[in-house]
Amino acid sequence: MKSEIISISSREQSHATADCFQHVLADTYALYLTTHHYHWNVEGSKFVQLHKLFDEQYNELFKSIDYIAERIRALDHYALPFAGDRISKISGMISEETVKDTSADQRADKMVHNLITLHRRVIESCQTAKEQSRIAKDDESESLMTDRITAHQQSIWMLRSIIK
Ligand SMILES: [Fe+2]
Repeated sequence: MKSEIISISSREQSHATADCFQHVLADTYALYLTTHHYHWNVEGSKFVQLHKLFDEQYNELFKSIDYIAERIRALDHYALPFAGDRISKISGMISEETVKDTSADQRADKMVHNLITLHRRVIESCQTAKEQSRIAKDDESESLMTDRITAHQQSIWMLRSIIK
């Protein structure tokens, strides 16, 4: 009887971890799409630098999406990045930066600011998922979230350094 209680509890914990990972997946996907969109549309005096940095960052994000989604599958849940409105919410924000009523340099700086905001949002989702993984005693999920937080912090540093 006792082992049954433990196993139900562990299943619930795993379900809660997968739920947190769905948020990380959707937020990372939104950031990937935004970074790729900016890679195409950035202009101005920092064009070469930003076009190249966005290229490196969207490729890193694209790879990470696969790890996050496959971790959700390992927890025996389907990977559902498009459930809810976490991705659709960003479309207004990213299309603003192609409206030419400000200078190309101002638009480029706004892109960088938007990306920093989105990286911070992903870090918050990762921190929640990391905490839930720790409660569930799921070392592999916790370790993946630690790696993702490190990668996002690194990306914020690079973006911040360009607009200083
Ligand atoms: Fe390209």
